[in-house]
Amino acid sequence: VEDKVKQNNWENFSFLNYKKNVETLSIVRERLKRPFTFAEKILYGHLDNPHEQDIERGVSYLKLRPDRVACQDATAQMAILQFMSAGMPQVATPTTVHCDHLIEAQIGGEKDLARAIDINNEVYNFLATACAKYNIGFWRPGSGIIHQIVLENYAFPGSLMIGTDSHTPNAGGLGMLAIGVGGADAVDVMAGLPWELKAPKIIGVKLTGKLSGWTAPKDIILKVAGILTVKGGTGAIVEYFGEGVDSLSCTGMATICNMGAEIGATTSTFPYNARMADYLNATKRGFVADNANLFADHLKADEGAEYDQLIEIDLNTLEPHVNGPFTPDLATPISKMKEVAVENGWPTDVKVALIGSCTNSSYEDMSRAASIAQDALNHGMKAKSLFTVTPGSEQIRATIARDGQLKVFEEFGGLLLANACGPCIGQWDRRDVQKGEKNTIVSSYNRNFTGRNDSNPATHAFVTSPDLVTAFAIAGDLRFNPLTDTLKDKDGNEFMLAEPTGAGLPLLGYDPGSDTYQAPPEDRSVVAVAVAPTSDRLQVLQPFKPWDGSDAHNLPILIKSKGKTTTDHISQAGPWLKYRGHLENISNNYMIGAINAENDKANTVKNAFTGEYAGVPDTARYYRDHNQKWVVVGGDNFGEGSSREHAALEPRFLGGFAIIAKSFARIHETNLKKQGMLPLTFADPAAYDKINPEDTVDIVGLTSLIPGKNLKLVVHPKDGETWETELAHTYNNEQIEWFKAGSALNKMAAANK
Ligand code: F3S
Repeated sequence: VEDKVKQNNWENFSFLNYKKNVETLSIVRERLKRPFTFAEKILYGHLDNPHEQDIERGVSYLKLRPDRVACQDATAQMAILQFMSAGMPQVATPTTVHCDHLIEAQIGGEKDLARAIDINNEVYNFLATACAKYNIGFWRPGSGIIHQIVLENYAFPGSLMIGTDSHTPNAGGLGMLAIGVGGADAVDVMAGLPWELKAPKIIGVKLTGKLSGWTAPKDIILKVAGILTVKGGTGAIVEYFGEGVDSLSCTGMATICNMGAEIGATTSTFPYNARMADYLNATKRGFVADNANLFADHLKADEGAEYDQLIEIDLNTLEPHVNGPFTPDLATPISKMKEVAVENGWPTDVKVALIGSCTNSSYEDMSRAASIAQDALNHGMKAKSLFTVTPGSEQIRATIARDGQLKVFEEFGGLLLANACGPCIGQWDRRDVQKGEKNTIVSSYNRNFTGRNDSNPATHAFVTSPDLVTAFAIAGDLRFNPLTDTLKDKDGNEFMLAEPTGAGLPLLGYDPGSDTYQAPPEDRSVVAVAVAPTSDRLQVLQPFKPWDGSDAHNLPILIKSKGKTTTDHISQAGPWLKYRGHLENISNNYMIGAINAENDKANTVKNAFTGEYAGVPDTARYYRDHNQKWVVVGGDNFGEGSSREHAALEPRFLGGFAIIAKSFARIHETNLKKQGMLPLTFADPAAYDKINPEDTVDIVGLTSLIPGKNLKLVVHPKDGETWETELAHTYNNEQIEWFKAGSALNKMAAANK
């Protein structure tokens, strides 16, 4: 019977799979014979090959089969274009796309949304038609923020999901592993390839006591961020447990998991409990809760499971925290804030207070904030600071409109923004201060790096709970502590704000609001994907050519880069992001940030044919158009930084053949392999120094490319003797097939024919 239980209310093709997960896990149990943490149970229950998979936390690479993929509109463009180039009729794993990142906050929700639909029309049209064509659920602009929609509709306990956004872990609030990835990983899973993840270490956080008063779930992660810092969670999953968990609402747990991204954690999760069942019921998924209840033993850690690191937090004594400015791990308890702010010279006037975002826009968050605002109104006061409200979804907006919270915010002086990322991702046409002016803003968001919200490097941004954001908005002052300080009402009488209150779930149930979902149509064969040939933002990708079957001779070196070559040097972000769906246009940024070892200049390389100096992309294009393959030579940890797939697509598109470096950042190396580029390393690192930008090279041994066997690099200096050195590689058998086919997608497409 269990096989027939649907995962959600939107798809008739995705089902709960607890039985299979438990069976897969039992194979691993037989082999490892030890208790597992909850996160391990989810991971190992989703292994592609449980019989042979090496499993050592922090060491092995796991091959996994995620249940689901979620993409936001900025990253979805290239992911879908790549998927299309594989020529498959539909995605192999349930996938959804969410329009939330491209909506700029300016004058208020409705008008901002209308403007965004106008400006981004071709992108939205492309995504809508591509989703319809390839059986992907499409959430239109205005529907809400990806992580909120996933929590409300798709997340379920014990599942494994990947999403093309850093705060994908939000869904951990429903007892699952939701992991943020780059577009390349999403494409693999959409195409049915297993997904690779280094077996994470597990950090346990034991919660004792009970939350109360002004302390909110957000304070747990603000405290954890202070303990672990922005790097402390790297390569680890944070797993919460202990009796304190039951005092948290499901959406509160989601807030904690969401902001786990700020400590670099792979993801965060909570064991399945009754609060999650309540939320599933409230969001019309009682059938999921009923089934999860049958597998409750599977949905928590085994007795005696061991953690790589253990942290304990007593919720009885946990204080509200305010983190920032400029970094989310600078945690200050509210009782110290006054002193610390003054000592550091942070501007104490709070200019703008912003609640909502994917981190903190639940019904509970909105209700508690509204209770504080109402208290102020009762004393004849309004917000002193500008106050904005970003609902995480249309459902939340409609429900707080029905239940009165929205009215309170409006009376309080609040401005309702669109159900979208808005100021959180810098989509904010801020007008109250000039660029460069020192000022303070407080938000219930998760990230506060310099310039993130308003691109003003002088803005001091603090992140805290929506409760404190609202209290700061009333006082207009960062030194205000609502637990101890009084305010003056309209008649000059002193009063203290009452502790916030608010229901975790709406008593009348959620109001879905307007219909913002587009389901894939029954007959998808007639759908045409809308990409205008004249577009400068979108371009259909052609599959890359397969390998020609021979070694490469006399390849010029496009650039020998010096020092660090990060993915930002390889494919800059900023204004280039506009072209992330147009490979030809975005390729004009290829390696323009890298320093040429020949002349210490950026974006100035010598053309091997003409002898003239020109930009890197122009020179690469010249070679490509003259049918000349080329290589890049680089130093250590080449391609470190973000997982940006453009950094691997661009050299391939521009006719590159190999990147030869001292060493690679692993994700970039894999991305290059996926696109059919050869990432090779000098077996003798001294060869990097010996090779000159004007030399040409042969790569020999490709016809007998096998795992573990070095290739040969023959170097022909401009003047002087030819010399040879060995090139190492990390290809396995499967990846060698990618190289031969021209790309991993080509290989997948061929296998599906
Ligand atoms: Fe959007 Fe900010 Fe969340 S950018 S997805 S609201 S972290």
